[in-house]
Amino acid sequence: MNSTFPKGRACFALAYFPDAPYNSDMSASEMTVQGLREKKVGGEKIVALTAWDYFTGALAEAAGVDFVLVGDSLAMTVQGDTDTLAVTLDEMIYHTRLAARACRSPLLIMDLPFMSYQVDSGQALRSSGRVLKETKARGVKIEGGCEMAETVARVTAAGIPVVGHIGLTPQAVHQLSGFRAQGKSVEAASRLARDARALDEAGICALVLEYVPRELAAHISKIIDVPTLGIGAGDGCDGQIQVTADLLGLGTRVPKHAKVYADLRDVATAALVGYADEVRKGVFPREEQTVFADEELCRAIEAGDL
Ligand code: KIV
Repeated sequence: MNSTFPKGRACFALAYFPDAPYNSDMSASEMTVQGLREKKVGGEKIVALTAWDYFTGALAEAAGVDFVLVGDSLAMTVQGDTDTLAVTLDEMIYHTRLAARACRSPLLIMDLPFMSYQVDSGQALRSSGRVLKETKARGVKIEGGCEMAETVARVTAAGIPVVGHIGLTPQAVHQLSGFRAQGKSVEAASRLARDARALDEAGICALVLEYVPRELAAHISKIIDVPTLGIGAGDGCDGQIQVTADLLGLGTRVPKHAKVYADLRDVATAALVGYADEVRKGVFPREEQTVFADEELCRAIEAGDL
């Protein structure tokens, strides 16, 4: 261990990922909204991942990503639902608190879940305020275009960074008739370009572009000032965001836009099948996993003194 290790509260990432790219002064490496903007201006790609607890937060931290989203996709990856609609604000806050304990360097943002901000800008402000007061997240993400501009302006005016999200917006899955690519016609693409401009003017600090044509995403990335984070939107965005469960092979199906970098479901299942097999055969536990009684205790047990 040397001086590149963090001071203060040692975290899971430190214990389990000793080669993690830490600085000795964590506050110096913490990503900010301004830092994201500088990356866009400097042409440096932004790397973003989702996290839903301490473990996945620690993995993202150890991977040295710039941005971590506690996404409402946790309704599907963690809670086993078929869409993101049912997860509550309380549940999102709980998961964000867990992820925040491990995420020291990346900019941590929490998704506002369905119906925690759509009613009006006052509801959005109250929900966003809870996120900043009750978690260590530094901002919120909301789905929607022009219709959300007023809400974005009100929340950012209160000093709370807002990330926008257009294209395939999973909270509108039924309105969109499924998880399908958006912005494929000239008319739909123009609408998305208008949405992006309106959100940019309203004060978002970044924009997620989900499942839209590469050329449209590249165009939007050029016409707005804030960084774009693409997911299924090609390589012309200012950065990429992916659902961590998909990259690790933990999802139930791999979306077209994701690449499996490690098939942990297979690895983990094989490991647990091995455990079950050894327990059934009486091979586990062995001596090295066992604590033994000393002679006195052995004598007492044999003598029936217990
Ligand atoms: O909820 C989520 O994980 C997201 C990403 C897909 C950007 O919104």
